[in-house]
Order: sequence, then structure tokens, then C-alpha cells
Amino acid sequence: MICVEKSVLDSALSIFKAAKTVVWMTGAGMSAESGIPTFRDAQSGLWARFDPQQLASAEGYRADPASVWSWYQWRRRLVVKAKPHAGHFALAEFQKAFGHGLITQNVDGLHQLAGASEVIELHGNIRSSSCFAQRHPLSVPMPDINDVADAELLESPPHCPLCGSTARPDVVWFGESLPMDALQHAEALSYGCDVFVSVGTSSQVYPAAGFALLAKSQGAKIIEINPVATPLSEQNDCAIRGQASEVLPLIAKRLLLN
Ligand code: OAD
Repeated sequence: MICVEKSVLDSALSIFKAAKTVVWMTGAGMSAESGIPTFRDAQSGLWARFDPQQLASAEGYRADPASVWSWYQWRRRLVVKAKPHAGHFALAEFQKAFGHGLITQNVDGLHQLAGASEVIELHGNIRSSSCFAQRHPLSVPMPDINDVADAELLESPPHCPLCGSTARPDVVWFGESLPMDALQHAEALSYGCDVFVSVGTSSQVYPAAGFALLAKSQGAKIIEINPVATPLSEQNDCAIRGQASEVLPLIAKRLLLN
């Protein structure tokens, strides 16, 4: 656990209190304490252990749909087991109390489980599926983690009843475009906010990483919540070096009670 310095927290709070519109953008670090691995953390990150070209691209899927599907089934099992933590609940409270915007790169739906609404999902949602060839929506239930037979059944991708193509998760893969409505909505929010807060993202993947810069270009203050610095840290007006589950409830305690 990293102790958040009082002066840093005070500075963040004065930025929040002076703002009319606040936008939060979360990344994989937001879900790390719910048991879902990040992508780029040195040892535990998914991309330290698995090849993104094989598992997160259309080419990889074409080469070996069963392996890709089975990897996502493993990730879907982690998602089924995961529960939102105090940080997710704090963000949902900010939305309800102050109408803050919420953009996420995460595909796990934990913000919604914590009660957040109108979550802008930039990279899709791992809970839903469609067919690879035509993107026809498919209803593939989430794995039942208590049922061993179910786990085996779901290892090969089901077929689309309309076109016969195999299922893929509704997440954005490398080389694919982001959902247009999510992208436009996120851009509009970033453009018009007074404060943009990045939580648990390495700020290496664009266009998501560009939203903080877009906000800054329009005069917004930038706050980063992350245990370590990122390539965008130089742009920060305030950096809170701590974990999401610890920092967000601290902010909530001060913002919601005052
Ligand atoms: P990364 O794995 O690149 O970065 C996670 C960040 O979270 C790192 O900067 C960590 O320091 C930070 N972190 C770790 N634990 C934390 C905690 N408890 N509290 C706060 N921060 C913590 O994940 P993203 O930036 O989300 O794309 O990655 C962006 C995209 O790259 C993902 O959406 C995914 C990936 O390829 C797709 O799947 C399309």
C-alpha cells in the first residue's frame, strides 16, 4: 500500500471543487484489485505472458479460432469471478451526485456492476459476442464457473445460426476501429470538460490516451491516479500515486461529505 500525501490529495480536491464538468477515464489498473490482470505490468500483465498478435487480432483469430476463443473464455471466467471494489463504487457515486462522465478502456463491465450508468466502453465488452464474419450478435452465456462440464463445452467457439461463422468476443482487437458512437461521445466529453482524470491506465494506447491531451488543449486540468508515472505524466496538474481502491474512496470521502 502506498500512502497518499495529504498535500497531493488537497490539491486534487481543490481542482475538483473548482470544476463544473469532470470526466473520468479508467484502464486495466482499475480492475487489477478485482482480480483481473492488467496488460502491461511487467510480470503479471497479460502482454508479458501472451502474444497480442495471436490473441487480439483478426489475423490471429483466422489462424486459430479455437485457441483465441478458449483464451477469451479463460478471461471471461476471471470476469465472472470478479467483483467491483470500493473504487468502482466511488466512481458510481460521483456520477450520481455530480453527473461526472465515465469513459473506460475496460471490457469487464465492473463499473456497471457497481451502479454506474452511461459508461462509455471504448474497447467493447467481453461479456457479449458476435460472429467473426458478419458481426451478427450472438447470445453466448458467460461461463458457469461452478460447472466443469460447462467449462469444457465452451472451449470451442459456437457457430452463428445465420451465417455459420464462428463466435468472437465483442472487444476491439489491434488493427480494428473503436465503436464510432463511443469514440464520438468520449471525444465530446473530453473536449468540453474542466477536469480529466485518468485512473489505472498506462496511457500508451491511442486514441484513448489522446483524450487527456484533447482535454488539456481546451484548458482542462489533468489528474492521474496510478502507482507509477506514465508517458503522459508530464501533462498532469496533479498526480496521485496510489491504487484505485484506496485513492478513489479517499476522494469520495472528502468530495461527497463536504
Ligand atoms: P495497461 O496494462 O497498459 O496499464 C495498466 C496501468 O494500471 C499501469 O500504468 C499500472 O501502473 C496501473 N495500475 C496497476 N494497478 C493499479 C491499481 N491498483 N490502481 C491504479 N492503477 C494501477 O492497461 P491499459 O492502459 O488499460 O486494449 O491498456 C490499454 C489497452 O491496451 C487495453 O484496453 C487493451 C490493451 O491492449 C484492448 O483490449 C483493445
